[in-house]
Amino acid sequence: MEIEKLKEELKELNKEYAKIKTIPVEERKAFGVEMNKKKQAILDKIKAAEEAAEDAEIEPLDITAPCDFNAEIPGLKQGSKHPLMTELDHVVDIYQAMGFNVMEPRQLDDEFHMFDSLNFSKGHPARDGYDTFRTSENFIPIAHTSAMQNRALTTYKDRLEKGGQIAVVIPGRVFRNEDVDPTHEHTFYQCEGVYVAEKANMGELLGIFKNFFETYYGQTLRIKTQPGYFPFTEPSFELLVEKPKSLGGKGDGWLELLGCGMIHPNVLKAAGIDPEKYKGFAWGGGIDRLVMMKYMLNDVRYFESGKLDFLEEF
Ligand code: DAH
Repeated sequence: MEIEKLKEELKELNKEYAKIKTIPVEERKAFGVEMNKKKQAILDKIKAAEEAAEDAEIEPLDITAPCDFNAEIPGLKQGSKHPLMTELDHVVDIYQAMGFNVMEPRQLDDEFHMFDSLNFSKGHPARDGYDTFRTSENFIPIAHTSAMQNRALTTYKDRLEKGGQIAVVIPGRVFRNEDVDPTHEHTFYQCEGVYVAEKANMGELLGIFKNFFETYYGQTLRIKTQPGYFPFTEPSFELLVEKPKSLGGKGDGWLELLGCGMIHPNVLKAAGIDPEKYKGFAWGGGIDRLVMMKYMLNDVRYFESGKLDFLEEF
């Protein structure tokens, strides 16, 4: 209301100013200066009043805690790190000790990173195998950590020109529109690995796996491959790890733990890397399954369930 009053005052002042024509010429300058001073004073007041009104519209935010965080609350249990995160850290530590860099994926990504850059041609039937969710804007909650391969390659490719290699692991959360049962979850974790150098071969990849699994499980294990198919590797394999008796195996069980292969030339090309000059291998596998074998768990759904009696065991 104050602003209205000030605006009225301004109008009156303008009327007053119009009288300038009726006063003697030699007094006009002093009159004008005086009027301008008054006008500026009113304009300043209007501005201040407008700013004050604006501030008043914003409700102050109460950023104080609603309770005393340090007080003991009866019945409230101390929180702890989720077992999957502890294991994920362990997985990453093992790869870092081998010299790998670590990148994190985006949980929401696009068609290019999820499929196109990975040599899935438009309409390729393998796209359907990934049971992807989509947002209404057509973004994809990533269905595999391979969605980061293109970024890993482009981020580190200058190392190749300096005679070095690209060695990156990417642990992260992935999502699939799947029916949930003891061995399938819609939300789970994967770890991706990407290695590119002037020379790279599957023998090195198998060496990395043997070292990784034996460190993770703390015992000697047999591994084997069987042919697989992924558009982004050629040739492609599935890697199986022996399920030892000490981890609930019956002596003849093999657990399929990841997909891998030599990186397809089109994937290197999509990242601006010359496939004639450089070779690479990549792999990706579920973390949940790895952890299930370690702790002999039989239901993957425990991880996302928030069941306290399950979580308290770790
Ligand atoms: N992204 C694949 C999946 O989720 C797994 C995979 C296979 C990753 C082969 C790779 C690879 O990097 O080379 O089923």
